[in-house]
Amino acid sequence: SRIVVLNGPNLNLLGTREPEIYGTATLADVEVLCAETAAKHGLGVSCHQSNHEGGLVDLLHEAAADPGVVGVVLNAAAYTHTSVALLDAVKATRLAVVEVHLSNPHAREEFRHTSYLSPVAVAVIAGAGVQGYAYAVDLLATRHA
Ligand code: DQA
Repeated sequence: SRIVVLNGPNLNLLGTREPEIYGTATLADVEVLCAETAAKHGLGVSCHQSNHEGGLVDLLHEAAADPGVVGVVLNAAAYTHTSVALLDAVKATRLAVVEVHLSNPHAREEFRHTSYLSPVAVAVIAGAGVQGYAYAVDLLATRHA
């Protein structure tokens, strides 16, 4: 069994992107952390990143079609605040999704205070930096056990 880790737009630039907000860890570092955390629970991971809204929808559909997937760690980045398509994909697939943000969007601009995903997420982890991904993996693994 495994956990799918999905990262949205601009998160491929982690490490150099606004490090004062997002830190200096790279996306590769995040994915290694997720894999190590999942392994402690005897689970695997499959990690994807897309800058495209429809690409993320496709990845959610693929995750849902795989019976080995126990849940999804989703940082939809800016699409969190705009995407009815991602909301509908989570609803349609009934995937267990943990919404993750490196920063705390509630402490930032007003337009980041709305999440289309939070109403359908199992949990929301925001402001814990890269460690938030490990918490999300722990949560999905514990929930599945
Ligand atoms: C983010 C927060 C979003 O508001 C922003 O658009 C991102 C990253 C985060 O991880 O803190 O791209 O999801």
